Amino acid sequence: NEKREAVIGVVTASDRASAGIYEDESGPAIAAYLQKALTSPFRIVRRIIPDGFESVRDTLIDLSDNIGCDLIVTTGGTGPAPRDLTPEATLAAAPRELPGFGELMRKVSLTQTPTAILSRQVAAHRGKCLVINLPGKPAAIELCLDAVMPAVPYCLDLIG
Ligand code: MTE
Repeated sequence: NEKREAVIGVVTASDRASAGIYEDESGPAIAAYLQKALTSPFRIVRRIIPDGFESVRDTLIDLSDNIGCDLIVTTGGTGPAPRDLTPEATLAAAPRELPGFGELMRKVSLTQTPTAILSRQVAAHRGKCLVINLPGKPAAIELCLDAVMPAVPYCLDLIG
């Protein structure tokens, strides 16, 4: 049966990037990764938003329910600072957590830096939309996506 083009959301949660204080490098790194890694047709919808619970939650709900994303990859806001609320917002928008994603991404990240322990990144799904949190550091993007991407197509089949 005919497969429609997948829609993938790429969300950068960062007060400073959304205010234009610095340029977002992680969102483009995710987009570049996906262009290289995926073989079937897809299009990317990008958002650069401030940190915070409502900002991230509402963006995820919009991308899932109105834009029709199959997958959303976020970057930033997973640490322990007061405005790092991406994991809470993800679980508010997508209540069913898939704990293996966060476990594996922290495990591979810890081989590179001991501060990887500080990321509270999660993955979860809202209906047929899978949401994966990545840390804000550009260096984390390829490492984390390499670790989890092998399981993503099957996961999307199961939740779809
Ligand atoms: N994971 C990888 N692979 N590489 C990194 O540089 N930085 C860590 C951690 N995970 C890092 C990483 C640091 S310093 C923090 S504070 C947390 O991710 C959370 O980052 P975030 O708030 O930008 O999401």
